[in-house]
Amino acid sequence: MEDIKTLLAKMTLEEKASLCCGGGFWNTRELPHLGIPALTLTDGPHGVRKQSGAADHLGLNESDKTTCFPTAAGMAASWNRELLYKVGAAIGEECQAEDVQIVLGPGANIKRSPLCGRNFEYFSEDPYLSAQLAAKHIQGAQSQGVGASLKHFAANNQETRRFNIDVVIDERTLREIYLASFEGAVVDAQPWTVMCAYNKINGEFCSQNRKLLTEILREEWGFAGFVVSDWFAVSERDKGLAAGLDLEMPTSAGIGKEAIVSAVKSGGLSEAALDKAVERILSVISKAVDGKKASAACDKAAHHALAREAARESMVLLKNEGGVLPLAKKGGIAVIGPFAKTPRFQGAGSSHINATRVDIPYDELEKAAEGAALMYAEGYALNGEADAALLEEAKKIAASADVCVIFAGLPDKDDSEGKDRVSLRLPENQNALIAEIAKVHKSVAVVLMNGSAVETPWAGDVKGILEAYLGGQAMAGALAEILFGDCNPSGKLAETFPQTLHDTPCFINFPGDSKRVEYREGLFVGYRYYDKTGVKPLFPFGHGLSYTTFEYSDLRLDKSEMMDTEELRVSLTVKNTGKRAGKEIVQLYVRYPAASVIRPVKELKGFEKVDLAPGEEKQVEFTLGKRAFAFYDTDINGWRVESGDFEILIGKSSAETVLSALVHVTSTTTVKKRYTLDSTIADIRDEPAAAQLVQTLSGSLGAGQELGLDLDALFSSIKIRSLVAMSQFKSGGKGAVTIEQLNGLIAAMNG
Ligand code: BGC
Repeated sequence: MEDIKTLLAKMTLEEKASLCCGGGFWNTRELPHLGIPALTLTDGPHGVRKQSGAADHLGLNESDKTTCFPTAAGMAASWNRELLYKVGAAIGEECQAEDVQIVLGPGANIKRSPLCGRNFEYFSEDPYLSAQLAAKHIQGAQSQGVGASLKHFAANNQETRRFNIDVVIDERTLREIYLASFEGAVVDAQPWTVMCAYNKINGEFCSQNRKLLTEILREEWGFAGFVVSDWFAVSERDKGLAAGLDLEMPTSAGIGKEAIVSAVKSGGLSEAALDKAVERILSVISKAVDGKKASAACDKAAHHALAREAARESMVLLKNEGGVLPLAKKGGIAVIGPFAKTPRFQGAGSSHINATRVDIPYDELEKAAEGAALMYAEGYALNGEADAALLEEAKKIAASADVCVIFAGLPDKDDSEGKDRVSLRLPENQNALIAEIAKVHKSVAVVLMNGSAVETPWAGDVKGILEAYLGGQAMAGALAEILFGDCNPSGKLAETFPQTLHDTPCFINFPGDSKRVEYREGLFVGYRYYDKTGVKPLFPFGHGLSYTTFEYSDLRLDKSEMMDTEELRVSLTVKNTGKRAGKEIVQLYVRYPAASVIRPVKELKGFEKVDLAPGEEKQVEFTLGKRAFAFYDTDINGWRVESGDFEILIGKSSAETVLSALVHVTSTTTVKKRYTLDSTIADIRDEPAAAQLVQTLSGSLGAGQELGLDLDALFSSIKIRSLVAMSQFKSGGKGAVTIEQLNGLIAAMNG
């Protein structure tokens, strides 16, 4: 391809406009006489959905056979950056083999409610974890010479009315939670493209949102790629372009192009803005041309093995009373539930992969069982209807087994793009089956297959619960390894499992009304809410068990005092104190109890996964910079640290912090207070210039204690302008404060 500036100079207005609008369903416009090839973009995020035949954005028509890796919900439970990179790289290789230049993923939207139908495609309720994992996925994919598309930017946290819902959100929450999840990924990994979301934020469609697409994404975060619309997200193409939306997808049959051309001709849109968009698109096309690997092929068997490795780390052992797991490789095992034979391993919608092969849990269990005898019962009907005969048969088989493993989960339609769930419950026939089997057998373990948190009313009645998520095409083998203890589970929850839907932070404001959804829970998403309110979740964020045990000790900070411009190094020792090799996810949270603004009790700012042989110990290290201590200050439109003592907490989960240490951080941002006549006594009390006045006036307020009044509190909240009248009244005019004196004082305090 020719140099971008040269190409741009040769292009007509129409050609430039046409490059900014899709050429087809999955490709950009090709301009052969200029030597500009088309880019092919396909879904994402956990595999490549290349449709060689009929195209659609809802996962309806068949796509080429590619590897289906675990969905993001499971991948996130691995907390394993390196694994995310490897899977991203494998997806990148498959893109090369399929002649795809941009893969549409990963998704970094925050799990605001467990009801969101697309939660299986997203990583976490926590922005730090989500951003870290998204960055690795992007780096992996892009290491193969193809681009990723980080989506859906931003605040696309529900499927209900996803095309036009207006997300009403305050700036701090937007910055600290919803944007932070994208910010880290953009800054660390520079995705070639970012996909804007369908919804509006505070009244403006994301596709036409200049603040989002230009001021924040490019000017603040330094994003250098192009912004692509979500499929059919564009309303007014010219306004979108002016806001920073470079590419409209898919084709809009000439409408978008016309809108751009006539806006430029009428002066409504500057040609310079169009040129910038074209340059950004051309520079990605040029990277794709350079990155193209001729006759690339990929090793599908190796990718299946990688999908299995990923699935192993994506499963979370939620409960294991009396060591019901791992299963012994002897005796009788009742395997109950149709998901053992027709597993759920991915969700529905645009992310749907036509897998190269799908392993079956029951078959894999049989292969791994050695001396154990498996017995199967269906137990419940997949259509959700109660079926007494199936239940009876399962009870009979359970009675003759040493241990029962029940496969349960959500139906396909509940992990689906385009639709949110209305309840967190499993189908009632599954709940009934589990409760009934638990009544007749003391050793019951439940394997869950779902893309987002579910209620488990029977959690107290069963001994074991293994969350297998939607673990991709090779999930079954990994599951058998974990159930039989050939592999030690090492996943931890990247989302809270609540006791009930009513306990969730946005219960009252999800999914909003016919026009808008208000994020009234603010910063208190996920564990930030449970921490603050003391509401006990079923399983907390960060929770996950192992077949071995770990001990944490020797927490050290490399300094006890620092400026917010410095870095803090934190280290500790983790030891495997059990008899099996295992991996532990160490979590670092920062807490600042003395904040002058409302802040979460603690926030995740670091994590590491360590692999330990029995008896082995390793040092784990973290480095914390300014952002680990800061909040987004809307008064200065920036991140600010308040000076004070911060606690560094090391946790096995968000609910179990085991070590802590203090560091004093000194802020380098001075925020000048501005006083007015409407400031209160409390506001000015600590100002030296006001000391005399405050002392005289508070001294003159003598009586009242006997009435049970807290005079100090009453006095402190008075606006200083009232002092003029009040002092007249008190002193009968003698020595009263004048408005001139107060204005003088304010001027002195404001410097
Ligand atoms: C989805 C995107 C997807 C696109 C193309 C849209 O409906 O929201 O995530 O990448 O379709 O299939």
